[in-house]
Amino acid sequence: MKIAVLPGDGIGTEIVAQAIRVLDALDLPFEMETALVGGAAYEAHGHPLPDATLKLAKEADAVLFGAVGDWKYDKLDRPLRPEQAILGLRKNLGLFANFRPAICYEQLVDASSLKPELIAGLDILIIRELTGDIYFGQPRGRRTAVDGHFPGADEAFDTMRYSRPEVERIARVAFEAARKRSKRVTSVDKANVLETFQFWKDIVTEVGKEYPDVELDHMYVDNAAMQLVKAPKKFDVIVTGNMFGDILSDEAAMLTGSIGMLPSASLNASNQGLYEPSHGSAPDIAGKGVANPLATILSAAMMLRYSLNQEDAAQRIETAVKKVLAQGLRTPDIYSAGTTKVGTVEMGDAVLKALA
Ligand code: IPM
Ligand code: MN
Repeated sequence: MKIAVLPGDGIGTEIVAQAIRVLDALDLPFEMETALVGGAAYEAHGHPLPDATLKLAKEADAVLFGAVGDWKYDKLDRPLRPEQAILGLRKNLGLFANFRPAICYEQLVDASSLKPELIAGLDILIIRELTGDIYFGQPRGRRTAVDGHFPGADEAFDTMRYSRPEVERIARVAFEAARKRSKRVTSVDKANVLETFQFWKDIVTEVGKEYPDVELDHMYVDNAAMQLVKAPKKFDVIVTGNMFGDILSDEAAMLTGSIGMLPSASLNASNQGLYEPSHGSAPDIAGKGVANPLATILSAAMMLRYSLNQEDAAQRIETAVKKVLAQGLRTPDIYSAGTTKVGTVEMGDAVLKALA
């Protein structure tokens, strides 16, 4: 089992270090190799996704990824910015299916900004299409407008587009996932305005006919954003495009108390995957030893489950994390009165102890 380890920037190195300790403790035959990515790779090699890093990722069964980005790179040309590393990995590895679970651990109901009764027991799964939509659609760029409201003025444009196979395959992923859960899929679109998403809705409906045992409904993205804070437990699986999924998954993350708790998996057709916390590189707290490593540790569990076929080991990690939460240990992002504040390494120590 070959794992490419890409810690990246900011808190990335700190949280990935804790996940590695957990993986080591499992005593499984992993081959792990680490490489630079993001701003760290730009500093060392002049590019956020060096060829050697991409090659390592491609040859691995799974990639364990930390986070990339720092404000200091905001002025670089777009192709050199740290974010291009994660976009490049998604595209080059064909990681079209992004799983972002939002689970509210009962010990953390008070860490959410929502009323406890709204979120207690919450368990939803956002499935975000990850290699299409306006993120990758061509053409894009800047030019002088030849038409529109201001001919002759500077303008910028991006292209929202989806092809039939792209929508079909992500729809299948969602229906299959729902079959293993509460058998409900909500497809989120903006079909009332955008042709791309009327097309999306039509195709998801067609594919849904192959899954009569799964209940399908459709929701406009603005309404979905509202329903997520009004009655989040009504959702089971949400399937949506790249950009809506980006936005809704951050919103869903906060329902659970902290984005510091949420893992994610990005898979291609052969179940090769990239696993990363749903949060970013948090440069404001980098190097302070306070970042929550649990999202990364839980991402490692997803990696064991989806790409490495080690369900038992995945469950062992998840059980250990719940145990640590039950003990009342909290990094600052999930701290509330009456619990014990710990740092990144102490949280890693506690998970290791709970595993043993
Ligand atoms: C995410 C991030 C990325 C995205 C950025 C860093 C490119 O926000 O994984 O959600 O927009 O997809
Ligand atoms: Mn995002």
